[in-house]
Amino acid sequence: MKSLITFEGIEGSGKSTQMRLVAQYLIEKHVPLLITQEPSGTDIGRKIGGILFNRGHHYMCAETEAFLFCAARAQHVREMIIPALKQDRVVLCDRFSDATFAYQGIARGLNLEFIKIINDYSSMLLKPNLTFLFDLPVEIGLQRATERNNLLKESAFSDRFERENMDFHKRVREGYLNIYKKEPERFRLIDATRDVDTIQEEVRRHIVDFINSLN
Ligand SMILES: Nc1ncnc2c1ncn2[C@@H]1O[C@H](COP(=O)(O)OP(=O)(O)OP(=O)(O)O)[C@@H](O)[C@H]1O
Ligand SMILES: [Mg+2]
Repeated sequence: MKSLITFEGIEGSGKSTQMRLVAQYLIEKHVPLLITQEPSGTDIGRKIGGILFNRGHHYMCAETEAFLFCAARAQHVREMIIPALKQDRVVLCDRFSDATFAYQGIARGLNLEFIKIINDYSSMLLKPNLTFLFDLPVEIGLQRATERNNLLKESAFSDRFERENMDFHKRVREGYLNIYKKEPERFRLIDATRDVDTIQEEVRRHIVDFINSLN
């Protein structure tokens, strides 16, 4: 049953919401899971995330950003993901290497060959078996993220990425769509403008089909 299923998309596209709901569903079905996220899937990754998302670090260069995300992934893959796959678990991961490609590669403009090398190195060449791409206009995603942050009092302010301008987020969206076009068989492109339940129904259907195809 072992497989790596990743959830990708711009800020506020509903990755965490959909992953949480589908995880509950799979737990009820007794599917052995690891539910995790990047960069904060390990203790070390959480500390790296603290540096990455800190709004005070507005002068962080793109190269540092790329290395820090890959450092967090190196730890996450070795400490959490590979051991879970060895135990035959299904790993649900909120963001993975595609995010580095879309954010640091396309949106920040770093060399894409270099991104591929550090992605491959940090992930030990591990590729997701299935990737959900939640696609929606950036205006809607950012609006949802802002409303969420206002509700969560302890993080009522946007982080370093959410403070980027619209063009940046549009490039991230295009970056994700580029990867999708190159590897359509790995992806399930999800229209994330719809309501939570409708999207969840589609996500469940794809995951059940995928898991059945493994048996
Ligand atoms: N389909 C939807 N329609 C309306 N609101 C939604 C939908 N999906 C999620 N939301 C809400 O939008 C906000 C952002 O959703 P969520 O945190 O799941 O996005 P995300 O992609 O994980 O964002 P981030 O990249 O910032 O982690 C939350 O308040 C969530 O409740
Ligand atoms: Mg999230």
